[in-house]
Amino acid sequence: MVLFVETVGVVGAGTMGAQIAEVFALNGKNVVLRDIEDRFVQGGLQKVRRSLNDLAAFHENRAASEIRAAESKLGIQLTPEQKAAAEKKVRPTYSRQRVDEAFARIQGTTSLHDLKACEFVVEAIVEDLNVKGKLFAELNGICGPRTVFASNTSALPISKMAEMSGRPQRFLGTHFFNPPTTLPLVEIIKGDRTDAEAVDDVMNLFSSMRNHRYPMMPVQVKECPGFLVNRILGAMLEEAYRCLEEGVAPARDIDNAMKAGAGFPMGPLELTDLIGLDVAKHVADHVKSAMKTYPAVQEPKVLDKMVAEGRLGRKTGKGFYDY
Ligand code: NAI
Repeated sequence: MVLFVETVGVVGAGTMGAQIAEVFALNGKNVVLRDIEDRFVQGGLQKVRRSLNDLAAFHENRAASEIRAAESKLGIQLTPEQKAAAEKKVRPTYSRQRVDEAFARIQGTTSLHDLKACEFVVEAIVEDLNVKGKLFAELNGICGPRTVFASNTSALPISKMAEMSGRPQRFLGTHFFNPPTTLPLVEIIKGDRTDAEAVDDVMNLFSSMRNHRYPMMPVQVKECPGFLVNRILGAMLEEAYRCLEEGVAPARDIDNAMKAGAGFPMGPLELTDLIGLDVAKHVADHVKSAMKTYPAVQEPKVLDKMVAEGRLGRKTGKGFYDY
């Protein structure tokens, strides 16, 4: 039976929770946004209001700014007819009315019981296994048996949290990326005992959604330290720090080199500044210590194997993809 999601619970109205609530509301879901104190709930709602106002303003001004850009690029003035045609073409996707309706769909609360009718609950509270586990156990006594629980944890073990929740079959990780209003990726992490049906339901849910800019992109990821993006990113960032310490190049050159030579939108050290060095260190320390006990193959063999098979990439028509 496919899960029909009409109302989503979001627990935690901080940096991530407020934006996650906003994305669901923009996609027509009713949202119950819960935090422990009313001032945090109100803070979260204010963030959503500001973000939605910016979104509506961007869309309202889009036609005018495209007309200005076209006029300055071509060095001409568009006729009133051309301007009207441009305005018709660039209709606001998110109108003022649409964002107001989205905001009205979010109900703030401090009571966990208000999440009773939710078919899907995403948790985005403090990164502490015991606090999260306790919250889910409490929710288990409140929500209906088909409600799917999801954690936005950056690094904590999903299967362990699933057991603590008391409903491991309907529990998974949904790891959003900051800011979820513009980054579309959601890593979907199945626990040891998560039902395939719950994973399908959540994949379908996200596949029908979009954020301010893009369709959401749910990607299924096996449970492992750092999940997918932070694991790969962590290895790359660490190499950048090593190059800096070895004096291979100064910070600015490392960032410029990765942007100009590898097509990165942002250099590894600039990215670390954006994430916050304390957060980057926390994630890196966690992934490194968890990887020590992770039973994965430490030295990847995939390149040796594929080269031996003649699968050299585009030039042979076959690599990781077929060309
Ligand atoms: P935050 O500190 O901005 O917000 C957490 C909110 O949860 C606070 O408003 C706090 O009052 C509330 N809270 C704490 N315990 C609660 C409880 N028992 N019930 C309800 N609300 C409670 O934290 P942030 O950055 O939003 O992170 C939340 C989660 O998302 C963490 O697990 C974090 O690892 C994860 N995450 C964070 C990312 C980021 O870039 N900030 C990116 C991806 C995941």
